[in-house]
Amino acid sequence: MVKILILGANGATAKIVTNRLLAETNADLILYLRNAERLSQYNDHPRVTLVEGDATDVAALSTAMAGVAIVYSNLGGTALATDTKAIVAAMNTAKVSRLIFYSALGALHEVPGKFGEWNEQAIAAYLPGFRESDQILAAQHDINTTQIRPAWLTNHDEINYETTSANEPFKGTEVSRQSVADFIVKLIKDPALYPNDSIGLNKPNTNGDKPAWM
Ligand SMILES: NC(=O)c1ccc[n+]([C@@H]2O[C@H](COP(=O)([O-])OP(=O)(O)OC[C@H]3O[C@@H](n4cnc5c(N)ncnc54)[C@H](OP(=O)(O)O)[C@@H]3O)[C@@H](O)[C@H]2O)c1
Repeated sequence: MVKILILGANGATAKIVTNRLLAETNADLILYLRNAERLSQYNDHPRVTLVEGDATDVAALSTAMAGVAIVYSNLGGTALATDTKAIVAAMNTAKVSRLIFYSALGALHEVPGKFGEWNEQAIAAYLPGFRESDQILAAQHDINTTQIRPAWLTNHDEINYETTSANEPFKGTEVSRQSVADFIVKLIKDPALYPNDSIGLNKPNTNGDKPAWM
C-alpha cells in the first residue's frame, strides 16, 4: 500500500486531507505532529501511524519517511524555512522524492495591485519563510515539489477554486481549506500532476483590495 507522510498533521487543512484519504483511498498514513495525543482518535486505526515529533528534527523526520512515497507538509509559522531545510535533508537521507508543500499567496511576489500591497503588510512576518522555502525547494535536484499558494483561508463548507500558474498574477483574495484539501487529495491520487511547480489557488470572483471579512 502506498504510504503518505503528513507533517503538521493537526493543522486544519491536514485534518480534512486525512479524513478524505482514509475515505477515498487505501493509502497508509503517517501523521507527524507535536503532542500526538491530539489525534488519539486514530490510535487504533489500521491504516494510521501517529508519530510525535518536531518538524525541525531531521533524524526523526527521516525515520518517519521510511517507505514513504509522498510527503505532504502542512507546516506553517514564521520559522518555516528552518522546517523546510529539515524536510529536504530528511528526504534526501531517506531517498523520498515527492513533496507537496503548503506555501501561500505572495511567495513569488505575484499578488498584483492594492491587495498585493495589503497582503505584503498583513503577512509580513511569514512571507520571508515562504520565499526562502521556495528557493530551498527550487534548488533540490532529487526532490519533485508541488508548492501550493492559497489565498486567505476560510472554513466555508465549499469546494470552489481555480488555479494560477507560477508566472501568472495571483487572482482573488480567499479560498476555503476544503478547496485546498481537494487540490492536495488530487495531487496525492495522481502525483504526476504539477511536477516542480507552484500553483496559486483562489475562489473565483473574489477579487478585492482585502479579503471580504477584513
Ligand atoms: N491563514 C491563511 O489565510 C493562510 C493563507 C495561505 C497560506 N497559509 C499557510 O497555510 C498553512 C496551513 O494552514 P492551516 O490552517 O491548514 O494550518 P494550521 O492549522 O495553522 O496548522 C499548521 C500546523 O503546523 C504545525 N507546525 C508548525 N511548526 C511545526 C514544527 N516545528 N513541528 C511540528 N509541527 C509544526 C502546527 O503544529 P502545532 O499545532 O503543534 O502548533 C500546526 O498544526 C499555514 O500554516 C500557512 O503557512 C495560511
